[in-house]
Parts: sequence; structure tokens; C-alpha cells
Amino acid sequence: MRLAADPHAVTPERYDAWYDTPRGRWIGGVEWPLLRSALELRAGDSVLDVGCGTGWFTRRVAAEGPRAVGLDLDEGALEFARRHGPERQLPLADATSLPFGDRSFDKLMSVTALCFVQQWPEAVAETEPAWQTATLAKRVPTGRGLRRTSLAGLRGCAAARSARAR
Ligand SMILES: C[S@@+](CC[C@H](N)C(=O)[O-])C[C@H]1O[C@@H](n2cnc3c(N)ncnc32)[C@H](O)[C@@H]1O
Repeated sequence: MRLAADPHAVTPERYDAWYDTPRGRWIGGVEWPLLRSALELRAGDSVLDVGCGTGWFTRRVAAEGPRAVGLDLDEGALEFARRHGPERQLPLADATSLPFGDRSFDKLMSVTALCFVQQWPEAVAETEPAWQTATLAKRVPTGRGLRRTSLAGLRGCAAARSARAR
């Protein structure tokens, strides 16, 4: 699994298995309830997960009842997601050019993904028409262990929003 801003590849299996490590279990166990609460999920919702990777969060959304769609640039990660979850729609797509019209989804989420997009202002602009956005970021496993990404992602989104407001 290749992270856009990282030259060191991580296999989808290794990436997803990180959520089963003590640290990953703790972080996922904190993040998922936060995300779930921020999205205020309802059974009839449709939810787009931008940069879904192996689908760890997408699977959890789908298990709550909404129609979950995950997209990513990494075909290997998407194949893993297809094998491990019920979601049928997991397109290979770029966050800077979403293959859906505005308001195609009730809710949108992106976990630790926009911080890897070189053209993040374009990605944020693409995702803004969504009605409700929740963004979480964390330290993620890379070929060299854990890498700090959270501030980059959050600051990036905040900067893009204030730039658009001016
Ligand atoms: C750290 S992983 C996060 C995966 C998943 N959201 C999670 O939290 O487990 C970052 C993901 O962003 C994806 N990504 C990076 N740039 C992207 C882009 N321009 N469009 C779509 N996905 C992208 C990568 O392929 C990778 O799967």
C-alpha cells in the first residue's frame, strides 16, 4: 500500500493488521466512536469514505446500516477492502476529482488521507459540497514505522477552509 506522500510501501495486510496491535486497537477504539458520533450515522444514510485504504473504517460504517462507498488511489488496498467487507462500491478514484456529482452522498468522511494528497486544496474543494464532513487524522504505519501525519492533515483542511472564506 503506497501512501501518496510516502515512498515506503506498506502491504494492505500489514496496514490493516496494525489496527489489531495494542496501539492500533487503542487508536481505532478512540477514533471510531468519535467518527461515528460526528457523522451521526443513520441506517438510511449514504456515506463516502475518501481515501478509504483497506476499508477499516468503511466496514464499520457499513456495519451500522448506511450504504458505504470507499474510494482510493491504491488498487491493492481496495482489493483488500473488497475481500474483507460487504461494500460493493469501492472505486479506484482520486480525491481531487471525485467520480460523483455534488450531493451524491448524505455524509462524507476521510480518515488520515487528505494529508497524503499533494493537491490537498483541490481535494478539500471537491469534498466540500458534501453536507457533513468529519476528518480525523492519526499516526499511521509506514515502511519505517509510525509517521506523524495528524497535524498536517488538520492544518491543511483548516487552511483551505479559511482561504476559501476570504
Ligand atoms: C494512511 S491511509 C488511510 C486509510 C484509511 N482511511 C484508514 O484510516 O485506515 C491513506 C490513504 O489515502 C490514499 N490516498 C492518498 N492520496 C489519495 C488521493 N489523491 N485520492 C484518493 N486516495 C488517496 C492512500 O492510497 C491511502 O490508502
